[in-house]
Amino acid sequence: MPLVSFHDVGKTYRSLQGVDDVAVEHFNVEIEAGEFFCLLGPSGCGKTTVLKMLAGFEAPTAGHILMEGRPVRGASRDRAVVFQGDDSLYGWLTAIENVEFGLRMRHVGKAERCERAMHYLELVGLKGQEQKYPAELSGGMKQRIQIARVLANEPTMLLMDEPFAALDAQTRSLMQEELASIWRTTRTTVLFITHDIDEAITLGKRIGVMRAGPRSQVKGVIEVALNGARSRTDDVFLQYYRQVHDMIRDEVAKAMAK
Ligand SMILES: Nc1ncnc2c1ncn2[C@@H]1O[C@H](COP(=O)(O)OP(=O)(O)OP(=O)(O)O)[C@@H](O)[C@H]1O
Ligand SMILES: [Mg+2]
Repeated sequence: MPLVSFHDVGKTYRSLQGVDDVAVEHFNVEIEAGEFFCLLGPSGCGKTTVLKMLAGFEAPTAGHILMEGRPVRGASRDRAVVFQGDDSLYGWLTAIENVEFGLRMRHVGKAERCERAMHYLELVGLKGQEQKYPAELSGGMKQRIQIARVLANEPTMLLMDEPFAALDAQTRSLMQEELASIWRTTRTTVLFITHDIDEAITLGKRIGVMRAGPRSQVKGVIEVALNGARSRTDDVFLQYYRQVHDMIRDEVAKAMAK
């Protein structure tokens, strides 16, 4: 049984003027436990909508979503979310206190809290920065703390919506490598949203390509048979790039024409 399955999921938004806008329709995808699944699609095609429905922030208006065989109803700690340019760290808490926060809310004892927080701070490469406040950290460091914070809660699944979009190219590339290595260590199931083909091939085990909206759905799923660190200059990487690019090209053109 897959960890997550979308069955003919649809989402219709109703505007303030009462006009219906069908963002997503007949969306079908299955995500296996331990898999890194990238969802790729042009701007406005409905990627965030899909993520919000799985997170439980928005309810589907058609079909249903199952996680571990049970319908998704509302948000839950087993599905942790990291949004684009997310700036939800608490400014009055240090890096380590931010990472510990969820554990403290669940009454985990101080020693264990501290140990777990340090483990995840180390995993995201921030050992030695634990006593700094968010205002003393760079954008990339803050984003890494967000990731450490959600990982510390040991969710079943990580939902990431273009988490590196606001970073400069170098930091972004470092963060991608770090996330790939964290995933290889923890094997947490990830749904990662991006509109960047490179990023999808660097990270994904499978890539679901979405059609341009409205009424968007999955056009096809590409399996990336690359193990370990992936280099953009490898021939196989470039072959995947071409394959994904061919699939998404028309969709981007359609999205631009609107
Ligand atoms: N809360 C909302 N109310 C009404 N319409 C919405 C709402 N959220 C999204 N939409 C519409 O649904 C469609 C899909 O939006 P969504 O944010 O899911 O796209 P996206 O693929 O994440 O885009 P981007 O790549 O730009 O982030 C768009 O047409 C958008 O206008
Ligand atoms: Mg979005």
